[in-house]
Amino acid sequence: MLAGKRVTLIIGGGIAAYKCLDLIRQLRRAGAMVTPVMTRAASEFVTPLSVAALAGMQVYQHLFDLKDEAEMGHIQLSRLSDLLVVAPATADLMAKMAQGHADDLATTLLMATDKPVLIAPAMNVRMWEHPATQRNLAQLQADGIAIIGPDSGDMACGEYGPGRMAEPEAILATITKHLTSGPLSGKRILVTSGPTHEPIDPVRYIANRSSGAQGTALARALRDLGADVIFVTGPANVPPPDGVTVHRVETAREMLAATEAALPVDAAIFAAAVADWRVENNFTQKMKKTTQGIPALKFSENPDILATIAAHPRRPRLVIGFAAETETVVAHAQAKRARKGCDWIVANDVSAATGIMGGTENAVHLISEEGVEDWPRLPKADVARRLAQRIAEALA
Ligand code: CTP
Repeated sequence: MLAGKRVTLIIGGGIAAYKCLDLIRQLRRAGAMVTPVMTRAASEFVTPLSVAALAGMQVYQHLFDLKDEAEMGHIQLSRLSDLLVVAPATADLMAKMAQGHADDLATTLLMATDKPVLIAPAMNVRMWEHPATQRNLAQLQADGIAIIGPDSGDMACGEYGPGRMAEPEAILATITKHLTSGPLSGKRILVTSGPTHEPIDPVRYIANRSSGAQGTALARALRDLGADVIFVTGPANVPPPDGVTVHRVETAREMLAATEAALPVDAAIFAAAVADWRVENNFTQKMKKTTQGIPALKFSENPDILATIAAHPRRPRLVIGFAAETETVVAHAQAKRARKGCDWIVANDVSAATGIMGGTENAVHLISEEGVEDWPRLPKADVARRLAQRIAEALA
């Protein structure tokens, strides 16, 4: 996917530097050529020899290295690649970048480059939250530098919180997005995914068997074609893809609010299995069987997110619904398409025998104004790729 692309990877001095070895491996596997640059501190964490071995080329470390300068001057080096990636971007490197320092090879390259720059910050949580780092971050964003992460979690220093460097897969996905221009480049596409949870009381809820697998695969396929994907997901079993903007919601009403907030978009795909009803008399305290006996739940209808967006003043050009049916699949789906006002319906049979709901494969019918197309049973990722391709053709 990155064949012929050149990435200069500037490795900063932090414990997360070890993840760069994997990042280099993944970048090269994707076809990219990686020019590694290490700060002096970085070589305390990983050896230049390991980096050079994985990159398959020499590591650049020093500004005043006659041999390096004779072979490739630092200005030339700074312009050589399609993208400069700083990983890990330490608090110190971020401060230097924000201030415009150029006192070693890494910072000089960053000052001299005319190419886009992506940084993956990694540091202790207090350092990340420090007003100075946040000031520097704002400055770097204002300077047009792209940022990925940091993630939250356990840190090498024993603390917990934001500060962990994004995982190599996530960095690779972001790099790919920066460097590839697919047929959906510049298009904003919304995908809803997963089930919704409708509370009965603070500890109980009503849900359904959707795993979120089809919506997630679709978001990934759209991203791979270059789309800017806004992924609104209920509590799914599968993690959201890297390189998309994720909004996590629980209820149908939250999903509607997040979806409306994402408008305008070029296309919207409603792959979520939204609960049709919510418990109207949901309890603010946990229901007790000792005092309440068998509860009588009262339901009210949830908003229909797809129908709302299809009739919205800012309706996307292409609105696609899914129809989960257990009988007379195509006829029900055709009626659904008309009722909801969407352009296409992707219909599937979710009766238990098919193993589709919560499974890895899907057999769909694509229903549009032109008629019905029956697709073969395919892995959900292939259904997603085929659909993403069709969306790209429709939006072209
Ligand atoms: N949908 C939605 N909001 C809802 C219900 C459904 O956006 N409140 C969307 C789903 O994401 C899907 C499509 O509408 O794209 C059809 O969902 P489905 O559950 O098959 O249809 P329902 O409207 O619930 O119809 P029924 O339950 O009667 O089959």
